Amino acid sequence: MTIIITGVAGFIGSNFLKYYLRRYPEDKVIGIDKLTYAGNLENIKEELERDNFVFIREDITNMKKIDEIFEEDEIDAVINFAAESHVDRSIEDPQIFLKTNVIGTQVLLDVAKKHWFRDGRWKDDKRFIQISTDEVYGALGPTGFFVETTPLNPRSPYSASKAAADLVIRAYHETFGMPVNITRCSNNYGPYQFPEKLIPLMINNALNHKELPVYGDGKQIRDWLYVEDHCRAIDLVMEKGKIGEVYNIGGHNEKENIYIVSKIIELLREMTGDEEIDESLIRHVKDRPGHDRRYAIDPSKIRNELGWEPSIPFDEGIKKTVEWYLNNREWMNRVTSGEYMKYYERMYGWR
Ligand code: NAD
Ligand code: TYD
Repeated sequence: MTIIITGVAGFIGSNFLKYYLRRYPEDKVIGIDKLTYAGNLENIKEELERDNFVFIREDITNMKKIDEIFEEDEIDAVINFAAESHVDRSIEDPQIFLKTNVIGTQVLLDVAKKHWFRDGRWKDDKRFIQISTDEVYGALGPTGFFVETTPLNPRSPYSASKAAADLVIRAYHETFGMPVNITRCSNNYGPYQFPEKLIPLMINNALNHKELPVYGDGKQIRDWLYVEDHCRAIDLVMEKGKIGEVYNIGGHNEKENIYIVSKIIELLREMTGDEEIDESLIRHVKDRPGHDRRYAIDPSKIRNELGWEPSIPFDEGIKKTVEWYLNNREWMNRVTSGEYMKYYERMYGWR
């Protein structure tokens, strides 16, 4: 197999690359990433040394360049992780979200269609996997779960752009018969997540004795899943998912934000012995506009059809995660300072 992983230098893309190459060491992987602030080659530096991994710095909205990549190799699957992914940034500046998340997806679909649909039929065994999010369903009240048939009701520019992409993909399946799947996962946590998202941001701030900004009352609920469990689910969808289907992925692991922040404080104190890391660092700040109150996934479909279950309990996953960031403080300092970009510009002559 030769597969394309877009967004390969980001949080989930880099974790998926590692997972995939461990599981399929003979396959060829082409990683595409624009290397925005969220993408760092440091995340995949070991993989860059491998003969069966090729990295291409490219923007997924560049149709000509994406077409050239498809011309070079017979591509069997595209797994599209590339996206602008942070809700707060989408509130500041929605346009790039629409461009990358919607137009970028359409470009990938069109190029894949051009190469995979020949002489009136789709080539065998091709697959386009869109990595979507539970946020497309909008907010839940205190009870109930998202299922695959829950109507899309996005409420932030980020989730609206992801929902738009999902609809475009469904249209390509219905109209052209394109072999697609959409996965909608809950909040991921684990190594290599850019420290603007809740968990790595709180770890980074606490280690630097900076305030921990909790939006509103902190009682918003997210359904946290360890990133490797997400990667395994995507692999199963690629292997056994029914063409055209959507699969929700989540761990029945609902936690209030304030619980997560307190847990991080507790673990960091234990691991570092630093007594300045305590609850006094917590600041309740102005709430995020349009903040979704609760997300929770019903994963029955992927469990029943594909046999997927989350395997890493939250207590174990969060401990591993905090440990990873503690052991990778250099990484955290550099990705937040933009140093990596300068380094890679020097190394590869990129502008
Ligand atoms: P991330 O922001 O860490 O990574 C995104 C990657 O995409 C970065 O490496 C970035 O450089 C790259 N990218 C951005 N614009 C690009 C463009 N125009 N062309 C090429 N590359 C571009 O995000 P993440 O958390 O790894 O999320 C990956 C995917 O998973 C996203 O599609 C996101 O919507 C989805 N998702 C994320 C979560 C989560 O909890 N993080 C949960 C469910 C779904
Ligand atoms: P985030 O990691 O941005 O993911 P998403 O908004 O996609 O779920 O945020 C997770 C939750 O944490 C969300 O309810 C917003 C909240 N949050 C804070 O309270 N403070 C912060 O500094 C951040 C980044 C998030």
